[in-house]
This record gives sequence, structure tokens and C-alpha cells, in this order.
Amino acid sequence: MEKRTELYRGKAKTVFTTEDPSRLVLHFRNDTSAFDGEKIEQLERKGMINNKFNHFIMSKLEQAGVPTQVEALLSDTDSLVKKLEMIPVECVVRNIAAGSICRRLGIEEGTELTPPTFEFFLKNDALHDPMINESHIRTFGWAEESHIEQMKTLTFKVNEILRKLFDDAGMLLVDYKLEFGLFDGKITLGDEITPDGCRLWDKETRKKLDKDRFRQGLGNVVEAYEEVSARLGITLS
Ligand code: C5P
Repeated sequence: MEKRTELYRGKAKTVFTTEDPSRLVLHFRNDTSAFDGEKIEQLERKGMINNKFNHFIMSKLEQAGVPTQVEALLSDTDSLVKKLEMIPVECVVRNIAAGSICRRLGIEEGTELTPPTFEFFLKNDALHDPMINESHIRTFGWAEESHIEQMKTLTFKVNEILRKLFDDAGMLLVDYKLEFGLFDGKITLGDEITPDGCRLWDKETRKKLDKDRFRQGLGNVVEAYEEVSARLGITLS
């Protein structure tokens, strides 16, 4: 399937139309951004790694019964996906405290969260993606009642599947962000699951293997993404 026109350019991916109006191409770029785009760098190979990583993870989820947008890997940096009508909220599950929950609630980084927490954020760069609750989603009509429930159920189902997948590969799934949309009226997992949008720590040493290496200037960002991929058995070029 050929890329046609650019539909949308995000911070790390560009979305293209195809000859099929129900399909899009996601092009993963090397751009890496943090703090609402304040810090941006090009990290060689990152687009390729994230494209292959995302395809691997989404395929595992699909096999486990989670409806995802992913259709096919087209090239090192491009994937064919279903065109979703996106719901403008982000779903975050946390198994271990890190990042914004530590700042907001004064929780020490590394604290085990039992049961895991669930948070909704509004997808809105200008407002810096504020945290919202179900009442806001209902009142402002960002998602239908049944879709709110399904997003929560599916986000926790993803946690069960991915915690085990990463644990078997010697890693802790600290937290992650998911975005959903509708395809033929059915809730479907969209966007991406890559080390840009989740936190992964080595199980023994708790070494950070995700975008926090970039956010915190720890260095060896791409090397960490490659290590995570290798541990999962993902073939990179
Ligand atoms: O920043 P915070 O701790 O709330 O992030 C929780 C998780 O969601 C992290 O894994 C982070 O990478 C991801 N996230 C994201 N995109 C955002 C906000 C958070 O991928 N806009």
C-alpha cells in the first residue's frame, strides 16, 4: 500500500493517507521529544526500532484478543494501520510509581502500586495534557459511556499481557499510556506502544530502559531501546 498525502505530523510520527480510505500509513521518525516538545533531538535508528517494537507488541496483543489498529509492517520505518476515529483521551496504568504521579502526589519513585492505578488525561498539547476523570469525559462528550468502560477494561487487559511479556524478558513494566479510537464503531487500540510511551526497568538493577533516559539526560537512549528489543527477540536491521 503506497503512502499518498501527509495527513498529520505528530512529535515522533507522521501519518499518511493511502489509496484505501480506511487505511493509513504510520511513519516513525527519529525525532524524540520531551516536556511538550521543549526538548527535541534526532536519535539515529529510533524510528526503525520503534516501528518494529510497536508492530511486535501490537501483534502480541492482537493474538491475545485486544483489537488493535496494526495491519502490517511495510518497511523499516512504516506500518499500515486501520484508520481510527480517535478518542481524545490518554489511558495510563501504573504498576510502580514514577514520573508525574511522584510529582503530583509526593509518592517516592519505585513504590509498588497495588492495585495498579488508572488515570485519564486529556490529549491537548496547548493545555499540557491535564489529568481528567470520567465525569469530565461524560460532561464534555469526549467518549461514550460504554467506551469509557471498554477503554479501562482493555487497558488493564494490556497490563496483564505486557507485564508477563516483559517479566519473562527480565524487565518491569512500570507504566504506559494507551490511546483508543473507533473502527467500524468498535473500540480499537491505536497510536503506539514503544519505549517512548512506557517505562521499562531492568528487573534486577532497576536500570531505566525507556524515554526517561532522554528526559533525564542519562544517555545511551537508543542503546537501551535496542537492549529491550533484543531481550524480547525482536529482529532489528
Ligand atoms: O508523565 P507520566 O508519568 O504521567 O507518564 C506516564 C506514562 O505515560 C509514561 O510511560 C509516559 O511515557 C507515558 N506518556 C506518554 N505520552 C504522554 C504522557 C505520558 O507516552 N503525553
